[in-house]
This record gives sequence, C-alpha cells and structure tokens, in this order.
Amino acid sequence: MSAAHKANGAVSPACGEEAALTSAAAQKEVALGGVAQVAAGARAGNSVRDAKTGDGQQPAVLTAARAGRCPKIVFFDSGMGGLSVFTEVRKLNPDCAYYYLFDHEVFPYGEKSEAFLVARVTTLLNKVSACLAPDLIVIACNTASTVVLDQIRPSFPIPIVGVVPAIKPAGELSRKRKIALLATPGTVQRAYTQRLIANFAADCEVLRIGTVALVHLAENCLLSEVSSYQHSHQGSSWEEHTVATIGSGLQLNAAQEQELRQILAPVTSLPSAQQPDVLILGCTHFPLLKDHIAEIVGPQIALVDSGAAIGRRVHTVLAQQLKERLAQGSPNDRQVQAGAWTAWYTGQVSALEHEQFAATFAYFGFHQVQALTL
Ligand code: DGL
Repeated sequence: MSAAHKANGAVSPACGEEAALTSAAAQKEVALGGVAQVAAGARAGNSVRDAKTGDGQQPAVLTAARAGRCPKIVFFDSGMGGLSVFTEVRKLNPDCAYYYLFDHEVFPYGEKSEAFLVARVTTLLNKVSACLAPDLIVIACNTASTVVLDQIRPSFPIPIVGVVPAIKPAGELSRKRKIALLATPGTVQRAYTQRLIANFAADCEVLRIGTVALVHLAENCLLSEVSSYQHSHQGSSWEEHTVATIGSGLQLNAAQEQELRQILAPVTSLPSAQQPDVLILGCTHFPLLKDHIAEIVGPQIALVDSGAAIGRRVHTVLAQQLKERLAQGSPNDRQVQAGAWTAWYTGQVSALEHEQFAATFAYFGFHQVQALTL
C-alpha cells in the first residue's frame, strides 16, 4: 500500500469526499489560500489576467486555481481505461482536483444492452454528482458515451465531456481512404458511431473490429504491472515517473502478445494494398497498450485516439466556465476544496484487488480508493 493511500483521512459514508487532506493536497490548499486577493482583483477588472505576474499569459484554468477555485473533475469508465484519458487531461489542466469512478461490478461494458448502460451510468453519475458537486464530468468510455451522452446531458447542470471514437481525425489522416475501428462490440455497432462515419469518413472503407478480449487484456496488464511496479519502487507515483510511458511501459508475456496478435489479425492478415492506413483506438483501454499495438500492425498504419483532444476540450470548457463566472461577479465560494483525489469502484472486491486498485491509482496521483455504495 502506498504512503499516500495509508494517509487517508476520515470518510463519509456517501462518496467518501473527505475533509482531511493528504500532505500533497494540503500543500495545494496552502498554495491556493495565499492568493485569494487575485480573485477579487480579477473579478473587479472582469479579467483573468494573473495579478501576480501581470503577464496575462497564464492559462485561464491555472488562474482559476490560483484564484482559490480549483475545478473538480470526475472521470467515469467501466474500468481503468479512463486513466489513459486522464493522463492527457491532466497534462493540460494540472491545477484541478481529480476524481475517478469506475463500474467494476459490471465491467466490461462492451456487450451490455443500451438500456442497461443508460440506466446504470445515469444512476452512478447522479450519485457521484450529489456527493461531490463537480464542475465537469468526463465519460472516459466510448462504449458508454456513444449511447448515453444525448440522453443524460439535459438532466445534468454541468458540462459532460464524452469520449467517442476519433473518426474525424482518422478521416482527415487517411490517404488510402481505408480506416479500421478497433473498439468494443457495442461501440462498433452504435448508431452514434455510424453517424460519425457518415459525417467525417463517408468516403472511407471502414473495417470494424469489436473486441472484449482486448479490454480485459489492457485492464489486467495495467493492474498487475502497476502494482508490481509500485512494490518494487516503494510507492513511486506519477509525480516521479510520468505516465506518458504507459503505452510502452506495460509488459506483455508471450501468451498475451499472441492474444494481441490474434485480435489484430483482421488488419494484419490483409494484403498490404488492402490494409487500412489508420487504426482508431476506439476504446479508452487500448492506448494503454499503444506501443505494442503499433509494433504489431507496423509503421505504415497510424494509430489515433481521442485522449489529447479531450484534454484540449476540458481546458476550453473550464476556461469558459471561469469566464462566465467572473463576468457574473460570482463570489469565490469554493476556496477550500482541495480534498484528496479519490477513486471509487462499484461492487465487492477482495483485499488483494483493493490493494491493486489502490496501487494503480496511487501511481496516477490519486490519494485514495474506496468502494462506492449504491
Ligand atoms: N474503456 C471503455 C471504452 O472506451 C469500456 C470498455 C468496456 O468496458 O467494455 O469503451
């Protein structure tokens, strides 16, 4: 168990949004508390200029954090895949408080019915929103986003950013006009996905590969790899070892590599002229194995995923929220909210599994992992 995980504070029975801070979060709070007057100055001038440096070059999100208002962002996925999106979002939005909810109890989502997913995701997001009052939710799951987004957005008062397959960039990139979509069985057959293809890659031949096996492979690799890494590096975390390396850092044994080769065979077994030149990683789990996938399909096939675009989108949405807030002269009413970054899972797990979750999330900078009671 990591030091950060051991340092958990008191936990309320609901979502466990705690009052006690770990040392890292406490430092963040101290840093935020020291510049409260910047918020007042910015409001008065209706500007997001950084009063400390006066250079006006600070990203709006950073300025928001310095103004004592640290945006709370919740990530949601069925499992660990959303961490691939989280790493991209965090790079561009370092001064946010991050939370992660994963639906381990019914993982994976890939073959669940659309009605089930809508009901399930709505319940879970309502629950976490009631406990946490986040500023923004990222549905870091293509399988869920492609079915729930349109239905749940109207009932949430905050922006919901969805992750959907990167068909638009793939359509822009492909010279051969042949692309492949590697995603879950649910995602490849969704009407939403079909609309994306019709809108952004209508003239492309699209090879759809639906796989549940690759979701399990990525989830298991990340869990086992990070927990053994944590043990051998005595609790090192994202702070010291950037997770930019996750795509290449995860090791596959011979059987796993063979399995990955079989999953990719619909692409690699094609004669080269018929192969796509772009492969979309349309499930957030798959970038966790990006370098292994790239090595198997070869350099003539470009891999695209949605992670970096979601990072930019989150940055834009938060900047817009801050602008509106300052324009309205809203009070700076959330100065102290730098609680410990928390991940919640659904369902019952063994002590060992809980330890694996804790080690994995500690590696990504989260301070604690808890069971969510529905
Ligand atoms: N990571 C998810 C996605 O992007 C879900 C995978 C699953 O649970 O099947 O689709």
